[in-house]
Amino acid sequence: IKAKQVSVNGILAYDGGQKIFPFTDEITVQGNTVIYKEYIYVLLNKPQGVLSATKDTNTPTVIDLLPAEFQHFKPFPVGRLDKDTEGLLLLTNDGQLAHQLLAPRNHVPKTYYAKVEGLVTTKDITSFEEGVILDDGYQTLPAKLSILQAGPSSEVELTIYEGKFHQVKRMFLVLGKTVTFLQRIAMGPLTLDPSLKPGMYRELSETEVKMLQEYPSKGK
Ligand code: URA
Repeated sequence: IKAKQVSVNGILAYDGGQKIFPFTDEITVQGNTVIYKEYIYVLLNKPQGVLSATKDTNTPTVIDLLPAEFQHFKPFPVGRLDKDTEGLLLLTNDGQLAHQLLAPRNHVPKTYYAKVEGLVTTKDITSFEEGVILDDGYQTLPAKLSILQAGPSSEVELTIYEGKFHQVKRMFLVLGKTVTFLQRIAMGPLTLDPSLKPGMYRELSETEVKMLQEYPSKGK
C-alpha cells in the first residue's frame, strides 16, 4: 500500500485499515486481481512414511508436503491414514465439511485397495458383510469386500462405512490374514486421481467441493 501498488475498485489504496467487502470489492496488486477465499480443499495422494497430523517433531507430516501458500490457510487432514498407508487424503480448513465427512452417523464410505498375505475367499466376503468382532470386542458394520486376485498373496478392494483405529488391518487380522500394502482409493464421492503420484496434491474443483458439501444428504 505504501508503494502505491494496491487498488480497491480501481482507486489507489492509501490506508491499510480500509474496510472492504472481500466478495464484492475488487482488489488489485500491481494490476493483478486478488481472489479472496476463506477455505482451501486439497486432495493429497499421501505417500508412506508421513504422518496424518499437522505437526510432529520427528516425522514429516502431510502438511509439510504442501507449499507455503497452502499452509497459510492452516489446513488439517480429514481423518487419518496410518504412517504406512498411502492414498486419498483430503486436507482442508473447513471444519464444518470435515465434521460432516467424519461424523460416524453419516457413514461416509471409504474404499481401500489392499494386498493381503494369504488366500482371501468368498467366505471372507460373507464375514465382512456380516461384520466381524475386532480384538477389542467391537463388531464392525457390514463392509463390502471385492476380491481382485486370490492366491498365497491376494489383492482386494474393501469399502467400510466407519473408521476405527487401524480398521482394515484389524479386520483382516480377525480372518488370520495380514495386510502388507494399503491404499485408500475413495472417500464418499471423491476418488484418488490416477495422475496424482504419491506425495502429489491438487486443489479440488468447485464442483468437487460442492459434491462433498452436498454428499451425505444428496449424493449417497
Ligand atoms: N485402516 C487401516 O488399517 N489403516 C489405515 O490407514 C486406514 C484404514
